[in-house]
Amino acid sequence: MMPDGIFVTGTDTGVGKTFVCALLMISFEDTCYWKPIQTGSAEGTDREWIRRVTGLPDYRFIPEVYCFKDPVSPHLASMQEKRRIDLSNIRLPALPSRKLVVEGAGGVMVPINEDKFMLDLMLYLGFPVLVVARSTLGTINHTLLTISALRNSGVEVLGVILNGPRNKHNREAIEYYGNVRVIGEIEPVPRVTVNVLRGLRKEMSLL
Ligand SMILES: Nc1ncnc2c1ncn2[C@@H]1O[C@H](COP(=O)(O)OP(=O)(O)O)[C@@H](O)[C@H]1O
Ligand SMILES: [Mg+2]
Repeated sequence: MMPDGIFVTGTDTGVGKTFVCALLMISFEDTCYWKPIQTGSAEGTDREWIRRVTGLPDYRFIPEVYCFKDPVSPHLASMQEKRRIDLSNIRLPALPSRKLVVEGAGGVMVPINEDKFMLDLMLYLGFPVLVVARSTLGTINHTLLTISALRNSGVEVLGVILNGPRNKHNREAIEYYGNVRVIGEIEPVPRVTVNVLRGLRKEMSLL
């Protein structure tokens, strides 16, 4: 079963974190979504995207703490907009639900200020982490690096979700060398709709 809080990170940006969060939101009625640090809001936020695609009510979406317009790394966006990211401002809000899905920005080593990284936000919030990774060539390296950074900092790794065309060899290598469970394999879908997301629930053993 899904734990009370999950932090969804990825091996990269554009790897499918928001997609996976939407899937979790559709799969668990009692779950809220929170992306405390958002960049690139000029092109729309991940919260708005999930809200639109899933049609779920507003109360299940917690507002961002830091929201920057430019689609750049948080450390840079915050310098450009002259608003320093301070972890102590990122407080867990009172939730109208029992469960929470938190989405990070980019991957674990994305800087958020002069000496802190996304990894520090994960440690600070204390939730187990789900790693979304590509299924294709290059993913073994990216995924093992991500897992090793998380474990070296004492963050619990819940599992890995591989997004993209199924690749049995990459899955097996990640599970063996990473000593981690691949809890889901999501194939590309032609269009993201609420019914498509419902159909994908069974692809994830966490659910
Ligand atoms: N399995 C999939 N099938 C089809 N489109 C996908 C899939 N996974 C992700 N996408 C699309 O790819 C883009 C990047 O995914 P996204 O979840 O926004 O990545 P991230 O949150 O890691 O930056 C989005 O347009 C998303 O809808
Ligand atoms: Mg995202």
